[in-house]
Amino acid sequence: MQKTNVFPKDFLWGGAIAACQTEGAYLEDNSGLAVSDVSFFDPKLDRQDLAKHRRITSEIIETAMADTGTARYPKRHGVDFYHRYKEDIALCAEMGFKVFRFSIKWSRVFPTGEELTPNQAALDFYDRVLTEIEKHHMIPLVTISHFEMPLALVNRYNGWADRRVVDMFYRYADSLFARFGQRVPYWISFNEINAGRFSTFKSTGVVEDKSANYLQDCYQAVHHQFVAAAKITKRLREINPNAKMGCMIARFTTYAATSKPDDVLQMMLDEQHDNFFYTDVMVRGAYPHYMKRFFAENNVKIAWAAEDEALLKNYTADYLAFSYYVSNVTSAAPEASATTEGNLRSSLKNPYLESSAWGWQIDPKGLRYTLNTFYDRYQVPLFIVENGLGAEDVPDEKGQVVDTYRIDYLQKHLEQVREALIDGVDLLGYTAWSSIDLVSSGTSEMSKRYGFVYVDQDDEGHGSLMRTRKASFYWYQQVIASNGEDLSYSKQTHVALTEL
Ligand code: BG6
Repeated sequence: MQKTNVFPKDFLWGGAIAACQTEGAYLEDNSGLAVSDVSFFDPKLDRQDLAKHRRITSEIIETAMADTGTARYPKRHGVDFYHRYKEDIALCAEMGFKVFRFSIKWSRVFPTGEELTPNQAALDFYDRVLTEIEKHHMIPLVTISHFEMPLALVNRYNGWADRRVVDMFYRYADSLFARFGQRVPYWISFNEINAGRFSTFKSTGVVEDKSANYLQDCYQAVHHQFVAAAKITKRLREINPNAKMGCMIARFTTYAATSKPDDVLQMMLDEQHDNFFYTDVMVRGAYPHYMKRFFAENNVKIAWAAEDEALLKNYTADYLAFSYYVSNVTSAAPEASATTEGNLRSSLKNPYLESSAWGWQIDPKGLRYTLNTFYDRYQVPLFIVENGLGAEDVPDEKGQVVDTYRIDYLQKHLEQVREALIDGVDLLGYTAWSSIDLVSSGTSEMSKRYGFVYVDQDDEGHGSLMRTRKASFYWYQQVIASNGEDLSYSKQTHVALTEL
């Protein structure tokens, strides 16, 4: 069948980054320590066993606080976006980005989270970043919290488990709206809010050994984030009624291991508990029925304040954003244990899919399935705010990175986006992860690269930090220029690279 172009004229093409994986300058201009500054790099890391990186203990935090270096803590140096943002944003503009997604580092603006006024130097920095984005005629999509909460709030309150953090977050978000509220059309409250259950420390700052009832604290923390998201949505609407506040989850598209009814039921439960719980609350505005049973059976009792129910109901998300990297497989069999890694969590292996070097199962069709599933359920605009391939790029003898595997990954996913648009899904845009190489969130490695732009830096932080356009850079430029019509990878794309 001949396909006509189906990407809307105003489709928001772009790319995404997060402050804690790019900025570096972790103490500059009075910035405070963030949870991300505790994430360590382990050279002996087993790429297929990342649970260790998710389990941050009080002891790991103490060791990190005593070490002021960056070698073991790569997110502290990032890729120096703090000083090179002009060059990095110009490269995004060169690819033709319509939108640039970045996050603001909470601990830069409120170093301990408890200050009553924001750190002006930090706001000035983000002001300059926004000016640069505007200069290149892109629009900003700002994530308010992307795994960067002040570490002081972890030490003092056990993170979001404590209700008082809601007010501190509100103060932080309010300071952003006061300064940038008229300049940012799209916001996301929390990056991958369901990470609170899977990568709890970096998402909510809850430390297992500080919790008397860890599961209870995990869900209480998430509840506080729901309330905080509703409160800041209310505030944003007062300040700029035209701005949009999105919710976001890491989409764990989940298949049953077999057609056995037990496995299919397990799939339903995983979908409900791991995905829809978060979007049901944030898009529909109330806790879904199925969580009552789950909480009762797991001895979780969420403390609600008087205002919560009305806040959740009245200040739902304007659009649903999600990251999509992989799909998962689940089974009811007690002996079935996860056999491969994925975004934030592990999964059973899917025999029909290939995996990345990190074991993440590549499933483009799962993206069409996901887009349809979400749109069927909610009928609100969707936004794919992360999708990409983590791979070990090796520059050739000319210093060029011909990342055809990344082009192949993105191309196949965009083909499925196109199918979903034909299906009738309302999709605002697509921001690939990531516009430029950055430090891995899960493993703090540099060698797990996602960018269209190569950054000369290794896992230990050595390198010139020089930026080089990869083959995928030219490919994506062509995709955007054709508004998604031309997804092909041609010789021409390649020639542009080799003729440099
Ligand atoms: C998402 C995060 O979970 O996945 C990003 O929002 C992250 O911050 C991305 O970088 C890829 O994960 P990783 O662990 O490969 O960096």
